[in-house]
Amino acid sequence: MDDPCVRGFALDRDRRPVRAAAPLPPSRPQGLFRLLWTLNTNPLAAWPAHHYEEPIVVGQTPLGRFAMVSDPDAIRKILVEEECNYRKDDLQNLLLKPALGNGLLTSSGSAWRCQRRAFAPAFSMRAIASHASVMWMEAEALALRLARYNDTIVDVSEHLAHSMLDTLARTLFSDGFGHNPDDFRHAATRYFETQGRIDPLDLLGAPAWVPRLGRFLSRPALEFFPKVVAAILADRRGCLRSDDATDFLDHLLAARSEETGGPLSKEDIAANIITFIGAGFETPANAMSWAIYLLSLDDGWRCKVEREVDTVLTKGSENILFEEFVTIRALLEEAMRLYPPVAILSRLALTDHILGGREIKKNTTVIISPWVLHRHRRQWNQPECFDPVRFMPKYRGTIPRYAYLPFGAGPRVCIGAAYAMQQMTATLAALIHRFRFDLAPGHKVRPVHRITLRPEGGMRMRVSRRR
Ligand code: HEM
Repeated sequence: MDDPCVRGFALDRDRRPVRAAAPLPPSRPQGLFRLLWTLNTNPLAAWPAHHYEEPIVVGQTPLGRFAMVSDPDAIRKILVEEECNYRKDDLQNLLLKPALGNGLLTSSGSAWRCQRRAFAPAFSMRAIASHASVMWMEAEALALRLARYNDTIVDVSEHLAHSMLDTLARTLFSDGFGHNPDDFRHAATRYFETQGRIDPLDLLGAPAWVPRLGRFLSRPALEFFPKVVAAILADRRGCLRSDDATDFLDHLLAARSEETGGPLSKEDIAANIITFIGAGFETPANAMSWAIYLLSLDDGWRCKVEREVDTVLTKGSENILFEEFVTIRALLEEAMRLYPPVAILSRLALTDHILGGREIKKNTTVIISPWVLHRHRRQWNQPECFDPVRFMPKYRGTIPRYAYLPFGAGPRVCIGAAYAMQQMTATLAALIHRFRFDLAPGHKVRPVHRITLRPEGGMRMRVSRRR
């Protein structure tokens, strides 16, 4: 068998470079109605071809002024060096705040700072390492569940999401959620599919009292989330915890407001419970679904990954070092390059200034899109081709830091990045050790963007036992 590291690009069974499913970008900017339709149905298809070639595109659409930034130096300025020139934009808040309130993802200023400081210990390397055995156990439990479906077709993203929720319920919220994880998954999916669609009325600046269909349809989900919060808090109050049993919920309840010096408000505690469950299960489940899909396209990489997990896992999970899964990590990183679970980081410019030689006016929406950036012709060789070799240790260091942003960067970088990488590595290793996944015949893979980037209609795959 050819070694893909030597061959340069992964090849499919017909020996063509493996091109992953993606909507074709329009050849030129779309008119107002077409653009509104695309943003509502699949914003991934809104960016014209030249966005994937130019470092910065500044433009004016009927919806407002925007700058799409794909220049790594300019991105560093936005997210790190000059981040105080920007704030999270209104559209993002409109989509997220109904469910996530003023939690860590959606807050700003001193409210954000005190939350970030208070939660950091729950995501220290030590805290994450302490979750390793639970993550392995949950990965094994998922493998056992999938074994029941041998030689049948399942939606792997559904099973992965369920497993991620189970893991959160035993790590960050170690007393569980008091609800079946599937109920939360259904409510979150409903929220993404309804409130998560960009409403043309919002883009056109219609007043808030004009009814929006998405908001109406997301109501059942919004009524369900407080029940989860109540159950989680009720369980914690009824349970005496020893000092060393500190999980994320303990840090959340112990956090102090910078303004009052007292505990966070009930609303902020609730907002963070939903934020961490919501942010913590969907994104890793999607990243792994894409990784499994990509592997099913390429026998060379499939063999390579199988060889690695078979070798490492024979030692028994208690002796495993996560660093040994070099190929799994490269696969995950390449999957998040092609399908970044968070496909847009958007900010509002607070001042007139110059960025990468371009004039950015106050109130311009500045967009950094990992979807566009990770497929940008100036940053990547054959960007649309699946090739994990880019992330193997020999080449990983050649990728500019701000050309690859699955977890964002700067002060607002994903707090759960290391947690997610460890959990995804354990889960993929356990699954690939036992199963082979093949795309279900006739299943059309289509990435869509609804707050997160997900496979439309799930990822239907045939699961067959390897051993
Ligand atoms: C593959 C998995 C994940 C991906 C790709 C991902 C991606 C991201 C990105 C890109 C951001 C920055 C957003 C911005 O700058 O506007 C972010 C922020 C955040 N993520 Fe993640 N995330 C993942 C997993 C997780 C997990 C497992 C958790 C928690 C358990 C989590 C919790 C958060 C929170 C709370 C923030 C807001 C941080 C802040 O603003 O200070 N994420 N994530």
